[in-house]
Amino acid sequence: MDLVAAARRGAGAVSGTVAESGPGGGESGEEVVLRTHALVKRFGGLTATDAVSLAIRRGARHALIGPNGAGKTTLINQLTGVLAPTSGRVELQGRDITTLAPHRRAALGLVRTFQINQLWPSLSPLQSLALALAGRRGTAARFWRPLGADAALAGEVESLLAQFRLTDHADQPTRVLPYGKRRLLEIALAVALRPRVLLLDEPAAGVPAAERQDILDTVAALPAEVAVVLIEHDMDLVFSFARRITVLVNGAVLTEGTPAAIAADPQVRAVYLGETVVGSQGAGFHG
Ligand SMILES: Nc1ncnc2c1ncn2[C@@H]1O[C@H](COP(=O)(O)OP(=O)(O)OP(=O)(O)O)[C@@H](O)[C@H]1O
Ligand SMILES: [Mg+2]
Repeated sequence: MDLVAAARRGAGAVSGTVAESGPGGGESGEEVVLRTHALVKRFGGLTATDAVSLAIRRGARHALIGPNGAGKTTLINQLTGVLAPTSGRVELQGRDITTLAPHRRAALGLVRTFQINQLWPSLSPLQSLALALAGRRGTAARFWRPLGADAALAGEVESLLAQFRLTDHADQPTRVLPYGKRRLLEIALAVALRPRVLLLDEPAAGVPAAERQDILDTVAALPAEVAVVLIEHDMDLVFSFARRITVLVNGAVLTEGTPAAIAADPQVRAVYLGETVVGSQGAGFHG
C-alpha cells in the first residue's frame, strides 16, 4: 500500500482538525486518560517493548503503527493487563493500574475489542448486546425478558445495532454472520461497555474488501469523548481515522506526530521501504 496515497485520501477526513491544531495535535488541550511510563517488556533476550512512554488524551484518535514484530500487540497486552511489563508503569486517569487484572481495568473503562472467538456463537447480535448491557448495569442474565420490558435497554440495543450496521442481522446466530459483521459486533460489544479508552487491534484484518468500508465508517463514528487507540496495517484506515500516529520499531517509539508529519517523515518511510515493494510515488506501506 502506498503511504503517500493513503495519507492523501485520509487528509480529507482529518483536515480541519490537524491543519488548525498546531504541532501538539488536535488533542493537546485535553486531559491525558491513559499513560505509559518507560514501559519495558523482555522475552528472554528480546526486548519487545523498549522504554515506551505514551500519552493518550480524552477523545484521542491515536493510531499505533509499525512493521510486523514491532511490538504493537505486546504493548496493547500490557495496557490491558494480559502481560505484565518487565518494568515501567501504566496509568489510567492518573491511577497506577500496572498490576491490575484485565477485568478490573475494563471496569475502570479501559476496554479492548472482543475477539471473534470470544463472541457467543449461538446468540444473535441483539441477544449478545442485550447481555453485554445487562452485564454493564449489573442486572441479572435474564436478558431476553427485560429486553421487552426495559425500554431504555431495548433502545440502547437498537441504536448500537444501527450504529454498527447490524440491524439486518440482529436476529441471526452470530456464527452465520459474514466475517465483517462479526468484527462489527466485536466493536459494538466493546462500545456497549461505555469505555473511556477503547483499544482496537487490527479491526480490519481479514475483512474482505467489500465489507471494509463499514469498518472504516463505524470506527470514524465512534463516540467523540472516547479515546480510541487503533493498531492497524491498513493505511487507508489509519489515515482516515488518526489525528496522532505513533510509529513503533523494534519495540521502541521511532516517532509520534500528526498524520501529515508521519507521512512525510523520511525515517518512517525508510522503515517501510525496508519491507515492501517501493512504488515510484514513495514508500509502499505494508498492508
Ligand atoms: N509470548 C512471547 N514470547 C516470546 N516472544 C514474543 C512473545 N510475544 C511476542 N514476542 C516477540 O515480540 C516481538 C513483538 O511481537 P508483537 O506480536 O508485539 O509484534 P506486532 O507489532 O504486534 O506484530 P504484527 O504486526 O505482526 O502483529 C516479536 O519479535 C515477537 O516474536
Ligand atoms: Mg500484532
